[in-house]
Amino acid sequence: MNPLNELLQPRLNEGAVPAAEVMALGLYHPQHGYYRRKEGPWGFAGKDYYTALDLGPLLGQTLALRLEAAWERLGRPARFTALEPGAGRGWLGRDLLNAVSGPFAEALIYVHRDDNPAARHAAEAALAPFLQANRARFASETDPLEPFTGCVFSNELFDALPAQPWRWNGEQWAREVLAASGPEWQAADPGEAGVWFAAQTDGLEPGDGSIWCEALPGLVRELSRALEAGLFLAVDYGESADRLLAKGADLRRFKAHGVDGLWHEDLGEADLTSDVDFTRLAHVLEGEGLTSLSHMELSRWIRTHAPLDAWGAQWMGLPAPDRMKRTENLLQLTLPGMMGSRFRVLEGWKGNEG
Ligand SMILES: C[S@@+](CC[C@H](N)C(=O)[O-])C[C@H]1O[C@@H](n2cnc3c(N)ncnc32)[C@H](O)[C@@H]1O
Repeated sequence: MNPLNELLQPRLNEGAVPAAEVMALGLYHPQHGYYRRKEGPWGFAGKDYYTALDLGPLLGQTLALRLEAAWERLGRPARFTALEPGAGRGWLGRDLLNAVSGPFAEALIYVHRDDNPAARHAAEAALAPFLQANRARFASETDPLEPFTGCVFSNELFDALPAQPWRWNGEQWAREVLAASGPEWQAADPGEAGVWFAAQTDGLEPGDGSIWCEALPGLVRELSRALEAGLFLAVDYGESADRLLAKGADLRRFKAHGVDGLWHEDLGEADLTSDVDFTRLAHVLEGEGLTSLSHMELSRWIRTHAPLDAWGAQWMGLPAPDRMKRTENLLQLTLPGMMGSRFRVLEGWKGNEG
């Protein structure tokens, strides 16, 4: 039997376990959790899913422009720290460091923060030249964060936090649980989540429902309090709160490049993910004093900030296979219906201008 199902069995014999607790176990059990395993799940061949980073360096190159603009806005400080929580393999940091040059590159230090052992191992290889040159370093999730000026950025961090699905049946709230016979919906008091959901709509309809991520405010506050001045940027899968409610957001399982709702199966061996409530993420950041908060589709964010015509002209000078890869990367992240329209980018600003 799967070791995590074995661990769950005595609890299931006593009663149902909320889906968020099952997700926490499946992803973060210190020994058997999907994100605590020694071997990584990423990439195309034989693995479970790929992220925007597998498609090429376009996201990192656009991020480099946004960070350089933030550095300018801050008055070109001598040190600009770019902290990436949930940094995984460090590929976004690598693409960022490869894309910068001149005085900004001299000011930039990249900090990878993720206790995923397989990811850390892969990041040591991806970041090797930058680690040697003291342009990148590792931090543990448990290390207290020293205050810094610069940027906090993440890709698919918040959708990997345990989240609890809730549904409104027309009369009361129910939460999704794992019972001995399988998943089911059980009536329960949603507390703070219910107040939040009700505030996001003019009137709840039967079947409306969303996900509630308990850990979101704590993590956002920890990160944004360490940022003394600069940019907070999050790329993630999700929607605004009203749209999540209307679609009845739920948990998803990714395994071998397939996606389904079987979040209770293959615990520790499949990725589990939930939509990110971007309205709530912005709301927590606003409470921490961040301003200019906005979020948009990743495809629009890239088209807004990247000089795509100039980059396209540069790619013409590349060998044909490289040129094709760059073009494919661009299409995946900017065409309607492709990856770039499924992700959103949130930006917020903290503190002084230069
Ligand atoms: C979906 S993966 C994304 C990895 C990477 N950003 C990418 O795009 O390939 C989520 C990562 O977030 C990490 N993570 C979860 N909670 C975290 C936290 N509180 N601080 C830092 N990393 C965290 C997990 O260990 C996992 O490696």
